Amino acid sequence: MDTLAEIRRLRNDLLRWNREYYQNDQPSVPDSEYDRALQQLRVLEDEYPEHFDPESPTQRVGASPLSAFKSVEHRIPMLSLDNAFDPQDLQDFDRRVMERSKSASVSYCCEPKLDGIAVSILWENGILVQAATRGDGRSGEDITQNVRTIDTVPLRLLGSGYPELLEVRGEIFMPREGFEKLNARARANDEKTFVNPRNAAAGSLRQLDSRITARRPLDFCAYSLGYADDSSTLPDAHSKVMHQLGAWGIPISTLSEVVTGASGCEGYYERLAAKRDVLDFDIDGIVFKVDSRSLQDQLGFVSRAPRWAIARKFPAQEETTVVRSVEFQVGRTGAITPVARLDPVFVGGVTVSNATLHNACEIDRLELRVGDTVIIRRAGDVIPQVVAVAMDKRPSDAQVIVFPTACPACGSPVERDAGEAVLRCVGGFVCPAQRMAALRHFVSRKAMDIDGFGEKIIAQLVDRELLKNAADIYELDLRTLADLDRLGEKSAANLLQAIEQSKSTTLARFIYALGIREVGEATARQLAGYFETLDRFIAASEEVLIEVDDVGPVVADHIRQFLDQEANIETIHRLQAAGVTWPAQQSSVSNAVLSEQIWVVTGKLETMTREEAETTLRALGAKVSSSVSSKTTCVVAGPGAGSKLKKAQSLNVSVIDEPMLLEKFNLWGAL
Ligand code: IVH
Repeated sequence: MDTLAEIRRLRNDLLRWNREYYQNDQPSVPDSEYDRALQQLRVLEDEYPEHFDPESPTQRVGASPLSAFKSVEHRIPMLSLDNAFDPQDLQDFDRRVMERSKSASVSYCCEPKLDGIAVSILWENGILVQAATRGDGRSGEDITQNVRTIDTVPLRLLGSGYPELLEVRGEIFMPREGFEKLNARARANDEKTFVNPRNAAAGSLRQLDSRITARRPLDFCAYSLGYADDSSTLPDAHSKVMHQLGAWGIPISTLSEVVTGASGCEGYYERLAAKRDVLDFDIDGIVFKVDSRSLQDQLGFVSRAPRWAIARKFPAQEETTVVRSVEFQVGRTGAITPVARLDPVFVGGVTVSNATLHNACEIDRLELRVGDTVIIRRAGDVIPQVVAVAMDKRPSDAQVIVFPTACPACGSPVERDAGEAVLRCVGGFVCPAQRMAALRHFVSRKAMDIDGFGEKIIAQLVDRELLKNAADIYELDLRTLADLDRLGEKSAANLLQAIEQSKSTTLARFIYALGIREVGEATARQLAGYFETLDRFIAASEEVLIEVDDVGPVVADHIRQFLDQEANIETIHRLQAAGVTWPAQQSSVSNAVLSEQIWVVTGKLETMTREEAETTLRALGAKVSSSVSSKTTCVVAGPGAGSKLKKAQSLNVSVIDEPMLLEKFNLWGAL
């Protein structure tokens, strides 16, 4: 094979493996094979420099570690921005710009303020030759090797017409999804996690070994032109320059917009603030820039910030506060969750005074103690998290957190499931905390949907022992309800009506409302669809349960354990007796559940003849055959089955016995 073809083959393989590794998280070759191919390619490229290609994977995947970063002086200093804190600041800024430029209205380019690391990247004749951090603004660190590993940064510009020297500034950041995956992996390996995507991006860029950077999900977005050889050939509008950079293959923001005046800026701020939580990356505000570059030049700078741009910050998503205590909450399934009680702090737009600590492992990982100062993060709708402890602020009397050895609500023993970090109260319905949580779940919107049946009402009823389990709800009367604190005659009547209305429900909601461990809304729907009647669901063995989509051995075990408890079945029957009902599902017999399937019955059956079994199978829509082939769906084998059974086993065709067949017939309503 000629050398160039070999080089191409290696490059293609490596590029494909990179994609599998970084984007799909699914490498198809072991690291050793990858390393071998890369080494081979390096040798060939060294030997045949005429085949050099700036886009070769050897340029992306990371080179050998550096001992230190070199320093790079910026051609033009990298400045910072002044901040506007409210609409008034923005109006003042706009007025100053109008006065200095003597214009009646000014166009501004509005851009998200990405929360990452500022970098400068230099392309020479279209080839990426240097990348540097901002540093102190005059000089930064040479991180070329690291920036080369970022997939979206072009190693060679597209198209033509770019200046000989083109320096672009922008932000390197880590998208949220990649950040979550990176932290999940760190947690699984019991390693330290990153506090936020920004720290993760900074840590990833600071690596002297760029092979580590290469494995981090970094991205880049340009936000301004730095230096260009002959920038007069570029458009005057900053927004148009950005589009030109985009055409050369440099990533630019798709969210930028050009508006007029302070009111235009304010409108953009509101629009983007509303989108903040659904973006795939963190932004900490908006940057407003005078769009005309000649006007920018005219306005110039004051100290370290330009007069032609301003940043309006969003409310912070991270704050520090103090952990005053740690309490242990008992959930519906007995899981005991440590919750940190905090000095109230305004973060992510709300006041937060509690944060979940998940489990004991999380507390160990954070090395948290009561009295510690912590960083709380609340981004989007995610529940507030403790992301780090400020060790330097730890008081001398900080208390080690001790896990309870008995349930804090009922005193029952606690246990830890094998291979799980979660501690659990074994008290079941004896435990008032579990009972409360189970009842709250039962009445919740996606379960029985009893409007107005709030936590406080449930607590009073549980306290007065009027509510021991879900079935008691349907025995409540107006007197009892009207007697409760904060519930007048009118509200009590409304609540009673809501209870009455909840009686007509669906099988899926009913199964979900039972609150079986790990049976969420979606699984409940699958179960209802599969079994169609409550009786069939209750009768299903674990073997049958795992045939349902979404149900694995663990969930099947939880379901069986729940249904094997006499008290649970009694509650179910009481609920039905009270009038809880749902429309019957269409019978599956008429749907011919076995259509397109081929069945074989062999050996001796005990409760029916082979012919009877075959007739029932046909009635369910199956084709019944006398010989086994790879097309056979299932073989029913009774005692004495011989060659057909062997053949089925050798072809990996599923085989069931008579009791299993009977169970299935029962399930399909054929008995
Ligand atoms: S323009 C002279 N545009 O914010 C103008 N900066 O507080 C310099 N940043 O160091 C910056 N997104 O790291 C600009 N669209 C954007 C930005 C942005 C994020 C960062 C940048 C800069 C810091 C200034």
